[in-house]
Amino acid sequence: MLIAHPCGPLRGEIELPGDKSISHRAVIFGALADGESVIHHLLEGEDVLRTVAAFRAMGVEAQRSENGVWRIRGVGLDGLSEPLDVVDLGNSGTGMRLLAGLLAGQPFFSVLTGDESLRSRPMGRVAAPLARMGARILGRDNNRYAPLAIQGTELTGIEYASPVASAQVKTALLLAGLSASGRTTVSEPVLSRDHTERMLAAFGVELDRDGLSVTVQGRPRLRGLELIVPGDISSAAFPMVAALLVPDSEVTLRGVGINPSRTGLLDLLREMGGDIAILNPRDAGGEPVADLRVRHSRLKGIRVPPEVVPRAIDEFPVFALAAACAEGETVVTGAEELRVKESDRIQAMALGLGRQGARIEELPDGMRVQGRPEGLEGGGVAEAFGDHRIAMTLMIAGLAAQQAVTVTGRANIETSFPGFAALMGALGGRIERIEGNAR
Ligand code: S3P
Repeated sequence: MLIAHPCGPLRGEIELPGDKSISHRAVIFGALADGESVIHHLLEGEDVLRTVAAFRAMGVEAQRSENGVWRIRGVGLDGLSEPLDVVDLGNSGTGMRLLAGLLAGQPFFSVLTGDESLRSRPMGRVAAPLARMGARILGRDNNRYAPLAIQGTELTGIEYASPVASAQVKTALLLAGLSASGRTTVSEPVLSRDHTERMLAAFGVELDRDGLSVTVQGRPRLRGLELIVPGDISSAAFPMVAALLVPDSEVTLRGVGINPSRTGLLDLLREMGGDIAILNPRDAGGEPVADLRVRHSRLKGIRVPPEVVPRAIDEFPVFALAAACAEGETVVTGAEELRVKESDRIQAMALGLGRQGARIEELPDGMRVQGRPEGLEGGGVAEAFGDHRIAMTLMIAGLAAQQAVTVTGRANIETSFPGFAALMGALGGRIERIEGNAR
């Protein structure tokens, strides 16, 4: 059980853990490169550690030194070996979908599984297009769900127009394209996060990028490199919204990745009247980074343009909290993907924040929120549904509410944000873990 207590002003400067998406890719491309890669500020959350374990099981050496620097000894595109056991990716959709793409083109058999949440998430979105490249992937319910059994084989490049803006689908196909013959092109309806494209280029792979499509030529060479993973803007989102909501707060978040394909939340909160300054912008290995200074602000409700949704996809739980405390109405549409994340996030927010006094009406593809500028009452007990971002949103709700908020069920915060409670504590928020039951 987690309890967040109402707090006074949040103040101070913190550094966020490394970006989850970039960390997964650094491990994967590092393993496939020729030579060693040295990775600083890798996210040591459970999702990424599962990906590290998967590559160790395929013969890749990955070592962490005492100062937290990771060294990955790349084995090249043809150097992986068959895992002796089922590969368990825990809670990680990114881990499973990216590995499905990679392993489809490897000359061995593998089985991918995960926790209950991951086994209920759609895998057909990668299995079906990979099958068009020649992949042999079987899964539950007509190849739609994990566990996935993959008999690696020779693949042929295709042109694929993805119906969803999904960086996981795009990256799965590009990873398959690395070992396929010919060219693999993926296009998407709206640009999803482009860390794969940026990082492949940094590893020395030539890509053709043309608007919403990207092409990779099969059988390239990846060269090991040294890189610094930026702070995760999806983790920064929690202290950011907390500082906006708690009166008199001023917080600086150092070294946060501000890749434009990830900054939808910044744009939305600023449009609502949020005082967020982007300071000291710089580059870290092909990714833009900055410090974000956030001050308490009075927020106004907005209509979220559907084309912004992919740029803020992981931030809607905490965005819903900001909207619930804003003046007036906020409407989110075009966000049906939220229903197939680590939980059904539309339902989880309506229920969980609803228990704290928020007025959130579910829409099939989003939500309609009637804000309460006086803040939420809190005092409720809510379920995390095993979803790290739902649990953290409810904790931020508690810091900003009139009464404490309690979260039950597996909270899984270590998935993406190890040290969350301690970092919020450093800013002045009190989040406690208590053994036992709320009833
Ligand atoms: C991710 C892509 C997004 C995001 C997830 C991480 C990635 O998922 O929600 O947390 O690293 O590629 P989709 O590609 O399914 O939208």
